[in-house]
Amino acid sequence: MNRLFFIFFMLAANAFGMLPEDSSKPQLMLKTTGVNKMENSKKEIFKNLYQFSTYIPQMDFTIHQYLSATEPAILFAAGTVQQAEKTLPEIQKILGDRPLKYIFVSHFESDEVAGIEIFQKAYPDVTIICGHLAARELFGFGYKVNILPKKGGEILEDGELKLQFIDYPSEVHLQNGLVVSEINGGIFYSADLMLSFGNGIGKIKTSDWKKEVEAIPLERVPNENKLRELKDSLLKISPKFVAVGHGYCINCE
Ligand SMILES: [Fe+2]
Ligand SMILES: [Fe+2]
Repeated sequence: MNRLFFIFFMLAANAFGMLPEDSSKPQLMLKTTGVNKMENSKKEIFKNLYQFSTYIPQMDFTIHQYLSATEPAILFAAGTVQQAEKTLPEIQKILGDRPLKYIFVSHFESDEVAGIEIFQKAYPDVTIICGHLAARELFGFGYKVNILPKKGGEILEDGELKLQFIDYPSEVHLQNGLVVSEINGGIFYSADLMLSFGNGIGKIKTSDWKKEVEAIPLERVPNENKLRELKDSLLKISPKFVAVGHGYCINCE
């Protein structure tokens, strides 16, 4: 009886993480050891476009954010909390007295969203531009921030910025998030589309826009009709530079 109780206790304790970690078992991703091994960097990767990156060796994966230091300034992806803490002082140095007016959020995932409150403390008037589903998620998760929801096909012109939004079925249950083209600067922020593995910090490859669009695999948008619709929308634009969310940026000039 005691033996049975002991076995039951050990199983329950293991399930709730009460036992010391066994290094032979797979660990939860991004435990502190992983975070400590991240490599961070900042670089002006295209005209007036700054790339902030975190490389995670354990995953051979890079996460990027981009600041367009235009007037007004916009940040593409809020980054994770850990990234935002590192990125904010760099952005403040670049912008000086100028505010960060916008943060573009492609879809509701930590690398796109989680840093919002860190930026909001420094820039209380910052406005989040995102799809309608992400706007509802932000509200539902209790974010108290200015939100400007957008749909594919809409254009926002403000000073040096001309943002054209494209529906991107990247949200839960294949609902629409967004990707965005900044037409005046020739920049396309691709979020998880055109993703590649490897240490992509500061790296740029040269390619053809149409080829890159057609190469987007079904695993990025796992529905043939929706993927075709997305590709057709993307083929109507012709950016000079693809600022990828992960991996190698793409020069299409
Ligand atoms: Fe994502
Ligand atoms: Fe991502």
